[in-house]
Amino acid sequence: ESTTEVDVSAIEPGQSIKAVFRKQPLFVRRLTAKEIAAANAVDVSSLRDPQTLQERTKEGHEDVLVTMGVCTHLGCVPLGAAEGENKGEFGGYFCPCHGSHYDTAARIRKGPAPTNLEVPEYEFTSDTVIRVG
Ligand code: FES
Repeated sequence: ESTTEVDVSAIEPGQSIKAVFRKQPLFVRRLTAKEIAAANAVDVSSLRDPQTLQERTKEGHEDVLVTMGVCTHLGCVPLGAAEGENKGEFGGYFCPCHGSHYDTAARIRKGPAPTNLEVPEYEFTSDTVIRVG
């Protein structure tokens, strides 16, 4: 199948879920107000792959962060999308293969990964449902 639908209302703020999109892991995360503030507090020009949280989310839904769960270094699945997993030093995701740390906007902050976790093509089909692909 070429698209994946996720009901984001089932995800509590501060939680993430893992889904599958085109046979690859997909992370869908509801950010807390604190996580949004942390992402917005970063000087974007200091980033390896400069993007704002707003550029990585949909207007009116900046609390919903949709990314591939594939490290941009060598393709491991980062931790942080499941309860109790290590979210890394910047509170987003952590790739244990070679130590890449992603922040609450899933932007690369430390370690060898060259770019942020990829945001796939998606849209909101209602207030609470996204369709990826
Ligand atoms: Fe993630 Fe190398 S594959 S840090």
